[in-house]
Amino acid sequence: MSLLAPSILAADFSNLTQQIRAVEIGSADLIHCDIMDGKFVPNITFGPKIISTVRKLTKLPLDVHLMVENPENVIPAFVEAGADYITVHQEEVKHLDRILNLIKEFGIKAGVSINPATPVSSLEPILHLADLILVMSVNPGFGGQKFIEYTLEKVKELKNIKEENSCNYQIEIDGGVDSNNILKVKEAGCDIIVAGTAVFNNEDITEATTKLINLIK
Ligand code: DX5
Ligand code: ZN
Repeated sequence: MSLLAPSILAADFSNLTQQIRAVEIGSADLIHCDIMDGKFVPNITFGPKIISTVRKLTKLPLDVHLMVENPENVIPAFVEAGADYITVHQEEVKHLDRILNLIKEFGIKAGVSINPATPVSSLEPILHLADLILVMSVNPGFGGQKFIEYTLEKVKELKNIKEENSCNYQIEIDGGVDSNNILKVKEAGCDIIVAGTAVFNNEDITEATTKLINLIK
């Protein structure tokens, strides 16, 4: 069984209350929140103020994906806003050990993400510290991109390492997941599956959520 985390990047922000309610009714497990600063990625989204708004709209865990430079500067604000998971990018963080411990000291889950071109081996020394490893299956920055197949090999690698070393991290995948590939993604070993366009770019968001959920439970 895998969990579904709809990404509100693809939601209609003029009607966020209704959109979040729709995925809740469809039995979504988490809400994925993409934070982009226009520097680490070529796009800008939203910050802690929106996260605190989302916090008031749902009791589902908020899975905050930081695609920003110097994430250590903004972690306290996102904790304060109500994040349950905070994930930083390996490619941006110089002191991964320090930042994972910092996030965990706030009493929330600490994740680390790798871009498609970043190998799992770059995480090996700190895998025991992470609560979550997020494998990007598109180059981060935008929703609606095509799923990159070879990233599934990294999911399988992470699953093997986890089993062999009794690590506790959850494996998450993010980008280009839809009803055509979600089963394959689940079978590769993903515990949490993010979907933006495949959930929100539909007339009936609840039905789209349920359709994906039924394929992975
Ligand atoms: C991309 C983001 C993703 C994005 C996924 O940089 O991290 O979370 O919202 O959107 P889809 O599912 O449309 O690829
Ligand atoms: Zn994301």
